[in-house]
Amino acid sequence: MAKVDVESRGDVVLIRLANPPVNALAHGVRTGLQAAVRAANADPAVKAIVVTGEGRAFSAGADIAEFAAGLKPPGLPEVIDEMEASPKPVVAAVNGLALGGGLEVALGCHYRVMDRAVGQLGLPEVKIGILPGAGGTQRLPRLVGVEAALDMIVSGNFINAATAEKNGLADKVVDGNVVDAAVAYARELVAAGKGARPLSAKRIEATSVPSDLFDKRRAALAKHSSGPMAAKHCIAAVEAAVGSDYKSGVARESALFAELAASPYAKALQYAFFAERKAADIPDIGKGVKPRPVEKIGVLGAGTMGVGISLAFLQAGFPVTVVETKPEALERGLGRIRETIESNVKRGRMTRDKADAVLAVLRGSLDLADLRDADFIVEAVFEKMAVKQEVFRKLDAVAKKGAVLASNTSTLDVDQIAAVTSRPEDVLGTHFFSPANIMRLLEVVRGARTAKDTLATAMSVAKRINKVGVVAGVCFGFIGNRMVEAYLEEVQAMLLEGATPVEIDGALETWGLAMGPNAMMDLAGIDVGYMIRREHPLTEERRRLYRVTDKISEMGRHGQKTGAGYYRYDGRTRIPDEAVVAMFEEEARALKINRRTLPPDEIVERCLLRLANEGAQLLDEGIALRASDIDTIYLAGYGFPAWRGGPMWQIENAIGLKETAEKVRAYQAKYGPRWALSPLIERLAKDGGLLAAAGKG
Ligand code: 3HC
Ligand code: NAI
Repeated sequence: MAKVDVESRGDVVLIRLANPPVNALAHGVRTGLQAAVRAANADPAVKAIVVTGEGRAFSAGADIAEFAAGLKPPGLPEVIDEMEASPKPVVAAVNGLALGGGLEVALGCHYRVMDRAVGQLGLPEVKIGILPGAGGTQRLPRLVGVEAALDMIVSGNFINAATAEKNGLADKVVDGNVVDAAVAYARELVAAGKGARPLSAKRIEATSVPSDLFDKRRAALAKHSSGPMAAKHCIAAVEAAVGSDYKSGVARESALFAELAASPYAKALQYAFFAERKAADIPDIGKGVKPRPVEKIGVLGAGTMGVGISLAFLQAGFPVTVVETKPEALERGLGRIRETIESNVKRGRMTRDKADAVLAVLRGSLDLADLRDADFIVEAVFEKMAVKQEVFRKLDAVAKKGAVLASNTSTLDVDQIAAVTSRPEDVLGTHFFSPANIMRLLEVVRGARTAKDTLATAMSVAKRINKVGVVAGVCFGFIGNRMVEAYLEEVQAMLLEGATPVEIDGALETWGLAMGPNAMMDLAGIDVGYMIRREHPLTEERRRLYRVTDKISEMGRHGQKTGAGYYRYDGRTRIPDEAVVAMFEEEARALKINRRTLPPDEIVERCLLRLANEGAQLLDEGIALRASDIDTIYLAGYGFPAWRGGPMWQIENAIGLKETAEKVRAYQAKYGPRWALSPLIERLAKDGGLLAAAGKG
């Protein structure tokens, strides 16, 4: 089915890519575009062609969903080459986002007219583990120069119309109707005798580019969020545009593209792209369940989390009232909010006007009754059940009917909190991650009595504040932290067996994690876990495994904030500490553990398997709706590298479920019950089932 609309405007044909919501270049769009260009060229009455997109996008690029099954011809490169070869001038009317293959279509047009307000251009392919494979690595440097092209292609970042006008990507930037402007421009071109202007006909001479440019760019890559291949291949593809003709350059682009497309990293990144979007889909909540209107926000508590949460809402344009118990705490919290906003202005992340607008809608209060107007209230007070229940009782008395009452608890039972109110249906958990104004993850905790529209409201609010909302059921630690518990427990075991914090963090960071577990505990505060362990029943094994870490905490070494934890700190720089290693050695002697050097592969494998085994358990218990939600939590909240897919993706795709089951059983035989195999993995390994199909989602 053709997904292109064609409209005649007399001597100009208007071709509109029409595949909502973002005009992805699916098979029907490619065939439609090809046919429309052919028809326009065959019609002597047509003098010029304008290509645009339906709705809010020009086109967001190739249809990523088609990649898995392989693309049916015609391929995008040939459609674009044919369009570019048109003898009649082809003008792109960039009416919104033109990304990836979308921008490549615009580059195949001979001229580009862009909407100033909403036009955006980018080649984000690297973010999904590939490179622009429809001529983008060849045409863009021919238009804007090699350096500017490398910047866009290697970062995947977007540019706006003002930048595009400066670097030559846009021939014209307009304020009114961009399609009408492009049609008028096309007529001007025809009248002036200006015709086709194919970029592929241009040549970039090798002498025009510094000889060490590409080596320097490769050396500067370091760790790239796309993993070990994509960014390097992007550079190599642009390199192939220099000193050669389009045909050989594009052949190199296509070979590099094929290598990337077949890599596990691209598959993982594309899975991650869809996993994040799938998380918004809650099976028993259809489109019929409408979120409640949310305009005004209340935040209770102006500590670490209250400040971050307030900032997250303010930055997204919501008015926020923050309530504290003590004037000093309120002033301190409001001060930190204002400082962050000011620092955003100084660093160019926010305009002065936006900052003024944000600060004008920030209010502080010592009276809970000031939340009577709020539509959505997030509680971020001390992590004590009695305190939370007291606060919710009071909230119940003052909050308006229909207001959503959300707790930011990280460990407490949301149902017990809801139970003290007369409206448990309006209560749920919104578990933000610190710093809450920066971390993208929001675990939305669905209580036993949470109403569907309450949940839908929290998910819609998550999107409005640019967070990735993922639904979790009620249990200790919800999804993310319950898995972290298993992971950190294994880290304790490995520290006793002979691995040092440097070795453990080094192995995992080399594998791709943003931060190893010891550094992470130092950042979060070793005292936090210590206090939690004191408040909850522990198995004997767990008590034993944590004995040294508890001592470290009791010594006042709480991590970065006290200048020492597993490491010592110079500012934020970690300094390995022999004293900590000695404490583990001593404990190992007492426990008669023969210390040994643990190979990095074993460290990574044990961490990964403990995470995924616990994840499978959460899936089996219905706490997580689907395996991809678990992965999304790890990617958005725990610094797990997207190019590794996530813990669940790893065991299903990189290790294999059968092999996972065998490995876990082997560790269980060696280490005992903490390695008990999840019954779900056991079942799937036996029956050949898929984690991707397990769960309720
Ligand atoms: N292919 C398939 N589906 C896509 C898509 C794409 N390129 N881009 C977006 N979608 C889908 C999303 O999955 C989502 O579907 P859903 O509603 O069923 O969940 C819907 O479009 C809307 O997307 P978002 O929810 O992400 O909407 P936002 O407004 O938040 O973001 C966006 C819009 C910035 C376009 C974002 O979707 C995005 O970054 N898309 C990917 C862009 C990209 O990577 N393009 C390059 C593709 S690869 C390529 O072109 C190869 C070529 O070089 C050969
Ligand atoms: P914090 O100790 O920094 O701040 C708590 C604030 O609540 C204090 O300023 C206190 O004065 C105020 N407060 C106490 N009782 C109050 C009341 N009745 N009304 C209004 N304000 C009151 O604590 P933090 O770290 O901000 O944690 C808050 C909540 O967020 C806890 O439930 C915690 O478990 C959770 N959380 C914390 C994370 C973190 O990394 N710190 C991460 C995710 C959740």
